[in-house]
Parts: sequence; C-alpha cells; structure tokens
Amino acid sequence: MAILVTGGAGYIGSHTVAELVAHGESVVVVDNLSLGHRQAVQRGARALADSGEIPFHMGDIRDAHALTEVFRQHEIEAVVHFAARSLVGESVQVPLDYYETNVWGTTVLVKTAVAHGVKSFVFSSSAATYGEPLRTPIQEEDPTLPTNPYGETKRAIERLLYWAHQAHGLQSISLRYFNAAGAHPDLQIGEDHHPETHLIPILLQTALGQRPGVTVFGDDYPTDDGTCIRDYVHVMDLAAAHRLALIRLRGSNGSNGSNANKLGAEVFNLGNGQGFSVQQVLTAARAVTGRAIPATVGPRRPGDPAVLVASSDRARQVLGWQPQFADLTGIVASAWRWHQGAPNGYGV
Ligand code: UFG
Repeated sequence: MAILVTGGAGYIGSHTVAELVAHGESVVVVDNLSLGHRQAVQRGARALADSGEIPFHMGDIRDAHALTEVFRQHEIEAVVHFAARSLVGESVQVPLDYYETNVWGTTVLVKTAVAHGVKSFVFSSSAATYGEPLRTPIQEEDPTLPTNPYGETKRAIERLLYWAHQAHGLQSISLRYFNAAGAHPDLQIGEDHHPETHLIPILLQTALGQRPGVTVFGDDYPTDDGTCIRDYVHVMDLAAAHRLALIRLRGSNGSNGSNANKLGAEVFNLGNGQGFSVQQVLTAARAVTGRAIPATVGPRRPGDPAVLVASSDRARQVLGWQPQFADLTGIVASAWRWHQGAPNGYGV
C-alpha cells in the first residue's frame, strides 16, 4: 500500500515525501509542476540507498481521468494533499482561479479517493483560515473568518472534509500551518518559489546580492516595533507532523478493521507558539549571514494580520508532535545553508 502525495514536488510537499520515505513508507507523487520542481521529488530521498525511484505522475488534481489512472496503477492507502495555489495577495487578484484549483481540485481528488476506498486523508491547511485573530495564541476552536480568498478556499476544504466524513467515512486531519521556513538538513531540497514572496527567502536572496534590498511592509502595526508578528515553523517539523497525522489515522482505521477509535475530521495548528516581528527576523538574518541586508519601510501589504501566533498544544498532546527547530536563528540558519548551496534554487 502506498501514500499518495499531491503537490509532492512543492516546498512542503517534497520535504514531507523525504520524511515519509526516510521512515520506510511507499510514496506516489502527483504534481502538475506548475509551481513545483520535478527534481525535488527524487532529491529528497537521495540519501536513502534503497528507496529507488519514487513513482511520479505529472497530472492535475482537477483531472479526474488522470487521478483515476493513478489510483488504478497503485494501491493507495492514504492521501496527503498539498497541491494548491497558496499566495494570499494573488488570491485576491484571481479568486476564481483559487476556487477552481483549491476547492474544485480537492473535490475531484476526494471523490476519486473515496471511490477507490481510501479512508485516510491529511490536508495542508493554513493559518489563513483564521483571518484577523481574536486572541493570541490562536487555538483551533477560535473563529475562522478568512480575510482573503486563499484562506476561504482552505476553510471550505476543511468543511468539505467534514462532510465527506459524515457521508463517506473518510477520516481526515487538517494541519493549519503558520509560517513555514528552512530546508532539509541534507540540503538536497529547500524553498524555491517563482516569484518569491516570503520574508525569509527574500532576506536571504538580498544577503546573497540577488536583490538590492528588502521592503518591510508597514511599521505602524500595534506591535512593539510596529512590524507584523508571525510564528515561524521549520519545514522538517511540518513534514514530521504529516507523518504523525498518518500514524494517527492508521491507528484509528485499525489493523483488524475493528475501527474502535474512529476519527472524524480533525484540525491541528502547527507553529512554535512564539511570535517574531519582521524587524526581529531581519535582525536574525543579518546575524546569521553576517551581511548588511538593506531594508526600507514601505506601506502595509493588504490582507496582512498584525499578529499570527499558534497554540500547538493539541498537536503536541494528540499527535505527539515535538518541533525540533523551535528557535528563529536555527530556522533562518537552515534556510541560509540551502540558499548558499543553491543560490538559484533548482535552477542550478
Ligand atoms: N514581509 C515583508 N516584506 C517582504 C515579504 C514579507 O515585510 O518582502 C512581511 C509580511 O508583510 C508579513 C511577514 O513578512 O508580515 C511574513 O510574510 P510572508 O509572506 O513570509 O508570510 P505570510 O505570513 O504572509 O504567509 C504565510 C503563508 C501563507 C499563509 C499565511 C497565513 O505563506 O500561505 O502565512 O496568513 F496563508
């Protein structure tokens, strides 16, 4: 039996593929390569001598025929679903594209998975489902009032999974990530977006001289230094959480089919529970790289909440999740090693 990873050529997807393969799982990847990198799939597992070639299907989650073919060719036990469009700003410009890829694509995927008897589904959700939080740190039961189409689509999919459980018995875990950063310790895979919009890679590209400077999006937020506060979490810790979610789902399905502890559609936050301002991240990046990293203050970026910090107590207690990279300097240093070794990402 294999685990189907959609979006397995993307940033968090490829690190999760590497994590699963490192723990002896059979993995099948579907990715349309619109944002991901073909090399990332195999490179993540390169260190494993006996892992062999990871089956890769270039396909789109909106394509029911292509997905059906994948389910025909492989015996799929569980799905880990990353494939999505994920830029907050872009989602405001092209909301219908976000609904088409994220909501419609997931609908096709879930229908196909259910039709092929899949009982376990792990979904890549987001802190963007909360919108402007009412309290810090955010807990899973807090209101979900997304402030952009991206967050709306992620929330809609969580609800879709809830109803798929009610109707079809599909057991799911949705993982709401906060700010992913860092790279695989073997430096074969890391973050490579085109265009890059995320703070840490932009700071490091500036340190490498690939950008003249960085713009801090607003210094008039109600925070100590006026810049936005985020909860940065290492990509390998996110990858580990997906593996733990699969273990939980597997346990509930029961090896003897008794289904003694049936799960529904669960949600977990994934963050370190500690917020850092843009200014603090800038300071950390300067310290790690030893480079100046010129920065100027610009206007706020529309849709940015002032503070997003997770309570991940549930993930720690229920999944047994223990982040290994809790400090910001370590996370930035991990990303820096990747950027130094692969200044053009997968573009060599
Ligand atoms: N920032 C800058 N300058 C930049 C880039 C970012 O000041 O050049 C700031 C942003 O305004 C924000 C912080 O740095 O305050 C972090 O921004 P990122 O773009 O790195 O990350 P976001 O917090 O916007 O986005 C992340 C995920 C999204 C998710 C969102 C939840 O990447 O997928 O958290 O709000 F939806």
